[in-house]
Amino acid sequence: MSAPRHFLDLKDYDGAALRRILDRALAFKAGDPDRPLEGKTLAMIFEQPSTRTRVSFEVAMRQLGGHVIVLSGQETQVKRGESWADTARVLSRYVDAIMIRTDNHDKLTELAANAEVPVINGLTDRSHPCQLMADVMTFEERRGAIAGKRIAWSGDGNNVATSWIHAAARFDFDFAVGCPPERRPPADALAWAEANGARVSVHDDPAAAVSDAHAVVTDVWVSMNDGGESSRHNLLAPYRVDERLMAEARPDAIFLHCLPAHRGEEVAGAVIDGPQSVVWDEAENRLHAQKGILAWCLGR
Ligand code: CP
Repeated sequence: MSAPRHFLDLKDYDGAALRRILDRALAFKAGDPDRPLEGKTLAMIFEQPSTRTRVSFEVAMRQLGGHVIVLSGQETQVKRGESWADTARVLSRYVDAIMIRTDNHDKLTELAANAEVPVINGLTDRSHPCQLMADVMTFEERRGAIAGKRIAWSGDGNNVATSWIHAAARFDFDFAVGCPPERRPPADALAWAEANGARVSVHDDPAAAVSDAHAVVTDVWVSMNDGGESSRHNLLAPYRVDERLMAEARPDAIFLHCLPAHRGEEVAGAVIDGPQSVVWDEAENRLHAQKGILAWCLGR
């Protein structure tokens, strides 16, 4: 039996493979009637809440001819001590692919190491690769090829920022992170970027990060895995993406946010609801990108 084609992190695949996924996503968005997942079943495990990931994967499976089974973290025997390895072995006998959203990346890797079917990372504490496929797709729809462009992140150096770092290497763009020293992206992600020739820079000054950017990106200040940390709000307040910070970017810069958003915290309402924001296209593109990912993992 050949090894399953997992989708775990953008750093695991070369740019050509990721480009094929995006091309397929664009074809589906343009109306390609192919249904490559006819008769296939995807198990989706959610240990954490989701709106976009949950709904876009389910709709994508249905529109491509497949089915889904949704499991909450509370309702499997993992809750009573069954290992992720055994869960992977058992699910592999029932379904054609597994998607998991979890608070611990090690659970994802244990699942993938023991599954005989593809495993998809639907967000962990370390990364969110499916989101990045939609984000790159959205950027390119609006501004053309992302290669050679400058993308700025302002805010917490979290799991989504890590996937942007991976994307910078694989799609060949400059990625400038504006964040406080206490909230830099993980050291291993920055070391990976350096080792892989990614053009990633980290700035204490948000204006320096955003300067001349073709897109400005942010995310919530306290991610799902972090718990409440009110002190972080004081730390990150200077990095809020407001109209003044957007003015430091190129005049035609777009604004991206993976959502959900907290208006008045990481982004001003005038920005996310303003003319430079493309967040609703970005959310829609989760659907098309999931189709590309599913077809790559499972389809012809
Ligand atoms: N951006 C994102 O993953 O959204 P959900 O948490 O709603 O799935």
